[in-house]
Amino acid sequence: MSRIIMGVESSCDETGIGLVRLHDDGTVELLADEVASSVEQHARFGGVVPEVASRAHLEALVPTATRAFEAADLKLSDVDAIAVTAGPGLAGALLVGVAAAKGYAAALDVPLYGVNHLAGHIAVDTLQHGPLPSPCLALLVSGGHTQLLRVDDIASSITELGSTVDDAAGEAYDKVARVLDLPYPGGPPIDKAAKRGNPAAIKFPRGMTGPRDAKFDFSFSGLKTAVARWVEEAESRGEEIPVDDVAASFQEAVADVLTAKAVRAAKETGIGTLVISGGVAANSRLSALARERCEAAGITLRVPRPRLCTDNGAMIAALGAHVIAAGVERSSLDISANPALPV
Ligand code: KG4
Ligand code: ZN
Repeated sequence: MSRIIMGVESSCDETGIGLVRLHDDGTVELLADEVASSVEQHARFGGVVPEVASRAHLEALVPTATRAFEAADLKLSDVDAIAVTAGPGLAGALLVGVAAAKGYAAALDVPLYGVNHLAGHIAVDTLQHGPLPSPCLALLVSGGHTQLLRVDDIASSITELGSTVDDAAGEAYDKVARVLDLPYPGGPPIDKAAKRGNPAAIKFPRGMTGPRDAKFDFSFSGLKTAVARWVEEAESRGEEIPVDDVAASFQEAVADVLTAKAVRAAKETGIGTLVISGGVAANSRLSALARERCEAAGITLRVPRPRLCTDNGAMIAALGAHVIAAGVERSSLDISANPALPV
């Protein structure tokens, strides 16, 4: 008998409700993926305001769930289990989702599973490309995280090979966008501007690529500072800023470092599949360069469609389904959120 899993996501500024079907053979099918975003309320602050995000989750959660059930043509009573993001993320924002998920689980008398947001970003790929091979590598690039992971089992065994020592890749996008007077979040407008620019116009630094640097760690704070300094100096000379060229050159540096390290990890570990996920995986240059380099190295590349890369509830429902299929024990109804939950 197949089972219906409801996923609840509220770790940052997206309220997501996803519904999936876990088939008896362990495959997971996407039924609904509804997201409400409070991003516009944060735009004028240039970053997510936690208090505003929590309130927005509270207002959006039930209407988003209603839309998801309508889209899937299901009723609440059809749900067999609830999965919720237990962390990492903003404490207040997480708590709204966790409290709602507990309420649903108690009212429906179904098991509750608190799951990891970062693992969810990887698990979502199974909705598009089917089961993950074991082991595989995952490059997780979002507004809050930049990590290279070895995934032996999406439900129970993920090991970190490297991570950013300062800013996340998405954070660098958001900060550079601010320097270039582009709107928040910075990824999409930089991606767009970069298509009109010359990626070789300015040679920006590639952080953590020296011989003495940790092999699989990343650093984007030096790059962000270099872009800001370049723009400041051009302004002080009274020059007009070539926004498209700066965007393209910055984007090239990010895509170069991320793909070079991921491919190097694949070669050194002998793992043949790379999944790239998280908001920055929606970047057109990152996926194009990754495709080029993976093809040259004989690595199978999997990148979920952009809509699945950014935060959503389907990724949490998908991970919940894999956790259930793996026989992991349910969470107790008094679980709490853990803002610093490791992967
Ligand atoms: O995964 P996500 O939706 O939320 C977090 O868990 O952080 O990622 C959001 C981040 C933001 O920093 C945003 O600027 C970035 O993903 N992003 C992009 C693109 N679309 C979103 N970065 C580069 N290129 C894009 N097309
Ligand atoms: Zn995320």
